[in-house]
Amino acid sequence: MAGDERLRLFCALRLPAETVEALSEWQRCELGGSADDGARLVSPENLHLTLAFLGGRPAGDAPGIVAALAEAARASRDPRLRVAGYRETRSVGMLTLDDEGGRVTAVAVRLHELLEKQGVYERESRPWLPHVTVLRFRERPRLAPALPELGELVPSDAAVYISRLRPGGARYEVLEAVALGE
Ligand code: 2AM
Repeated sequence: MAGDERLRLFCALRLPAETVEALSEWQRCELGGSADDGARLVSPENLHLTLAFLGGRPAGDAPGIVAALAEAARASRDPRLRVAGYRETRSVGMLTLDDEGGRVTAVAVRLHELLEKQGVYERESRPWLPHVTVLRFRERPRLAPALPELGELVPSDAAVYISRLRPGGARYEVLEAVALGE
């Protein structure tokens, strides 16, 4: 990869395979009907919790970004989340999550600090909100789905992703995955 090639990058927490499977099943049951009206279910491989979206960066920035994510993830302690609600913005539907004890938020905040220090990221003005985007649409379907019964959500690990924009929608590719905790 040439160091000056630009990559669309983001950092995210990943979910265990069983959780992704349960979420996909829930998407099909509760949101599936809206898929006919120009809405698209987020595919299983694209389900994640975004920690930081960096946008287009020179490929040469990637190693530093991976190092920052690894450091923030290493400090993670007992991360657990619970589904809190379903919410729609102008273009996506998401499950919002409760971060018990703020331990996942601490990972996001640490990551933002480390990325800002490298000059590759600018924190958003609103506080970080743990969520999983599950639906994309042009016109808001205004759904009120029953929430998935997933119990405690424990992220499996974290990854730096490359987002490749394609006509059928973005495809996310793991550039590098890092472990949570020591
Ligand atoms: P989301 O998790 O809220 O859907 C890759 O595009 C990931 O980065 C998506 O999961 C997306 O958010 C997140 N993201 C955050 N800000 C973004 C932006 N301005 N443009 C595109 N994606 C963004």
